[in-house]
Amino acid sequence: MKILALLGSPRKGGNTEVLLNSVLQGVKAAGGEVELVNLCELNILPCINCGGCDETGSCVLEDEMTPLYNKLIAADRVILAAPIYFYGVPAQAKAFIDRVQALWNYKRLLQLEGDWQDDPQRKGFLVSVAATHGKRVFEGAILTMKYACDGIGIAYGGEFVVRGIEGLGEMVKADEEMEKAVAAGKGFMA
Ligand SMILES: Cc1cc2nc3c(=O)[nH]c(=O)nc-3n(C[C@H](O)[C@H](O)[C@H](O)COP(=O)(O)O)c2cc1C
Repeated sequence: MKILALLGSPRKGGNTEVLLNSVLQGVKAAGGEVELVNLCELNILPCINCGGCDETGSCVLEDEMTPLYNKLIAADRVILAAPIYFYGVPAQAKAFIDRVQALWNYKRLLQLEGDWQDDPQRKGFLVSVAATHGKRVFEGAILTMKYACDGIGIAYGGEFVVRGIEGLGEMVKADEEMEKAVAAGKGFMA
């Protein structure tokens, strides 16, 4: 299975990256072929709602998002890992998600021709960390990822999220959660 893992945390070696690596350990143990892309190292312009993709299903902006479209279409699993910033995902991850609008239109145009069917076997997952223990702290990011999955044409498969992790180096010390992350990664492959 092809797994596209997208890191949407700008903090190098940060909690999200550490957590994602544990999840990917589980994914690989379950036979997943992982391609890891760091969204924060790419030049991904924000969507400008020009309407271009409404007509063509492809984005008029040519940047480092362009090669990601085919990777998204080919992936069996898409894992987005992003920390919580103000109850949502960081701007770098959000720029990527907004550009999924072109895929949403690609899918819509193919559907009009009867040439597209969502494949429920292809799934997307969210991995996230937040500093607080707020009951609703992941709701915004989960809804955003659910709708991104709809745009990509894949099912939303769930999330692995950890509360109460803030400073650099805190995630790696949370042994129990790190073990659960490996198990969650294996679960993502089911
Ligand atoms: C700009 C910014 C906004 C944040 N907003 C929230 C928030 O709304 N809720 C929360 O629980 N934590 C918030 N945090 C804390 C981060 O989610 C937390 O420190 C996380 O562990 C960072 O992961 P990282 O090491 O991958 O950057 C915020 C951090 C930053 C820098």
